[in-house]
Amino acid sequence: MHLSILVSACAVVSVQSFTVAPSVHRRPSPFSLSSAPSLNNQQEFQETSEVTNKKSWKDDGFVFGLSDSGLQRPKGKVAMTVVDGDSLETKPYQVVLVLSTLFGHAAFFMNAMMGIWAQQNYQLGPAALQTTSLTLASWVLADLGSGILHWSVDNYGNGRTPIMGGIIAAFQGHHSAPWTITQRGFCNNVYKLCLPFGLAPVTLLTWLGAGPQTILFATTFCVLEILSQEFHKWSHMLGSETPGWVNRLQALGLTVSRKTHGLHHLAPYEGNYSIISGVTNRILDQTGFFRRLEHLIYRWNGVEANAWKLDAELKERTLRGDYSLRKG
Ligand SMILES: *[C@@H]1O[C@H](CO)[C@@H](O)[C@H](O)[C@H]1NC(C)=O
Ligand SMILES: [Zn+2]
Ligand SMILES: [Zn+2]
Repeated sequence: MHLSILVSACAVVSVQSFTVAPSVHRRPSPFSLSSAPSLNNQQEFQETSEVTNKKSWKDDGFVFGLSDSGLQRPKGKVAMTVVDGDSLETKPYQVVLVLSTLFGHAAFFMNAMMGIWAQQNYQLGPAALQTTSLTLASWVLADLGSGILHWSVDNYGNGRTPIMGGIIAAFQGHHSAPWTITQRGFCNNVYKLCLPFGLAPVTLLTWLGAGPQTILFATTFCVLEILSQEFHKWSHMLGSETPGWVNRLQALGLTVSRKTHGLHHLAPYEGNYSIISGVTNRILDQTGFFRRLEHLIYRWNGVEANAWKLDAELKERTLRGDYSLRKG
């Protein structure tokens, strides 16, 4: 079970690396007027023609935050959407998708809880203990999963990558406009994650004959991955802007703290990727986990992580096999 989640996380990463690999080699040109004919939006076309060296987030090799990306990080708390077609307005389809996904997961969770209760011969104590420990274990593994997912979408792929494109553009664009997320309503903020973490994986597990423990673990994992964007949003808000219960969750360490996530937002965005509780950040960063993966991917298909493009020294150190945290 734990293995299957890790395997699927790795699959996401490898699929992305595969899809980026050919394009990086194909079009090294820093100017990308070649993308103009494919634009179907008149306004976009005009913008592109006006500023000839302005890149689009759909271009191959585009990295938010590189000096020629044409997208400067605004000063102060400015909300702006940097990805075409994105909007801060909550649409009815987003509400339907999010509510049906969460209700479905709740049904799976309740059903699994009843299953565990029955297995324990309807003794409340052991059933509650098992349910609680599985939920907490899933909380920790989901944090690890959120870190790996966040690292992979920050560093690889772009808005055109199959399946993950929307999530990739949203995550990478977030570095250019970090306050935009605080203006999003709940459903607008989390709906994109309902696709990979919707009911399909738990339905498949049920169909494969998984027991109630596995289902409870998996459904908690998926719900937390969906909620990770909301936890992330809270970490960008002031204590006075979030309700008291949110501040208590953060203080308990159940959701990622403002301080920890703030440290992710320093270019080249190379650490503190986990955004559920943040409990796995220290071990992931101190072991050089992501530098090792980036080095492996580079040796395998020549694709460089975005963090390397933003920080030549980080790239040079990683290529030397020095995976330690930046000094000083
Ligand atoms: C991550 O956050 C910790 C503090 O929680 C900080 O000491 C560390 O430098 C950060 N690491 C990176 C790579 O941003
Ligand atoms: Zn990021
Ligand atoms: Zn953030």
